Amino acid sequence: MLHHKPAQFFTVVATMFVLFTSNVRAEAAAPKLGNVTILATGGTIAGTGASSTTTIGYTAATVGVERLIQAVPELAKVANVTGEQVFQIASENMSNEHWLTLAKRVNVLLAQSNVDGIVITHGTDTLEETAYFLDLVVKSKKPVVLVGAMRPSTALSADGPLNLYNAVLLAASADAVGKGVLVAMNDQIHAARDVSKTNTSTPDSFKTTELGMLGYIQGNKPYFYHVSSRKHTTDTEFDISNLQSLPQVDIVYGYANMGPAALNAFIAAGAKGIIHAGVGDGSLAHKVVPSLSAARKQGTVIVRASRVGQGIVARNGEANDDELDFVAADTLNPQKARILLMLALTKTGNSKEIQRMFYTY
Ligand code: DGL
Repeated sequence: MLHHKPAQFFTVVATMFVLFTSNVRAEAAAPKLGNVTILATGGTIAGTGASSTTTIGYTAATVGVERLIQAVPELAKVANVTGEQVFQIASENMSNEHWLTLAKRVNVLLAQSNVDGIVITHGTDTLEETAYFLDLVVKSKKPVVLVGAMRPSTALSADGPLNLYNAVLLAASADAVGKGVLVAMNDQIHAARDVSKTNTSTPDSFKTTELGMLGYIQGNKPYFYHVSSRKHTTDTEFDISNLQSLPQVDIVYGYANMGPAALNAFIAAGAKGIIHAGVGDGSLAHKVVPSLSAARKQGTVIVRASRVGQGIVARNGEANDDELDFVAADTLNPQKARILLMLALTKTGNSKEIQRMFYTY
């Protein structure tokens, strides 16, 4: 029985008031979470293996985006997350058409005021290529972060869940605005232009070997130490909004005793551009120079890149680019040089103009 009703009533009211005001203060103090859309494309991060120790020989692109999100409930602590399954493929099957579909969806979403950032889950095999393509065609300063996994979701010490958590945290961070398209793998932040997959299977595979990664994600926070010096996103001259396809550009790999057979086949198949991934500083074997020169004279743009992976391919170094009317790839590896050349060819076939682009992006 309540023998002292007024006193107890006051106590109840006072307690409710304290709880209410502390809740209001707590809500006011809690930072507003950013809205992040996860665009899922497949890959190992969505892969499953036969057992917990299966880290090779698993099936990529089997888990849908909603299950990826459900598997990491901690995402809700760092962002308001929604998911879209754009496609579900192993990324060795990525195509120009996939890239155009993905890029157009990214630009539509980022133009919406209710989207603060995007995470793209992706197979690691071509993740660096998709990242660089988007770096050149996304028309927003809002964060776009690509993420994958080197081990399937079913494996012991699967790296996908924490990679995904870090990527969403980064995409929701004000620090990531204006930094260009980013790659978040293994607690590290990389610039799309310079990162590469450097190991076939280990979790530390993604590296920016010499030009330097941008920072870390640690203790639920991104730490940036560098920014990209090359133009990207809103500062590029490329617009894919009305494109339904991209010019065909192929890569010829250089090696001792190579001949022009592969090059001639690419030209005969209609390549509009050729990336010559030469030995050393983009060297050209004597046997292939006549075919390269003839292709150029027929309008095909030739870019001298290197299979080496690091360093500058210098203009007029191992070949007289001025005389041959070729382009030097600067520090882009062959697969990224191909992406820039494809986009360049949507604007011009002039190799001097294209050389400017290779020094700009
Ligand atoms: N099939 C490869 C891919 O989808 C698996 C590699 C991975 O995603 O880590 O890129």
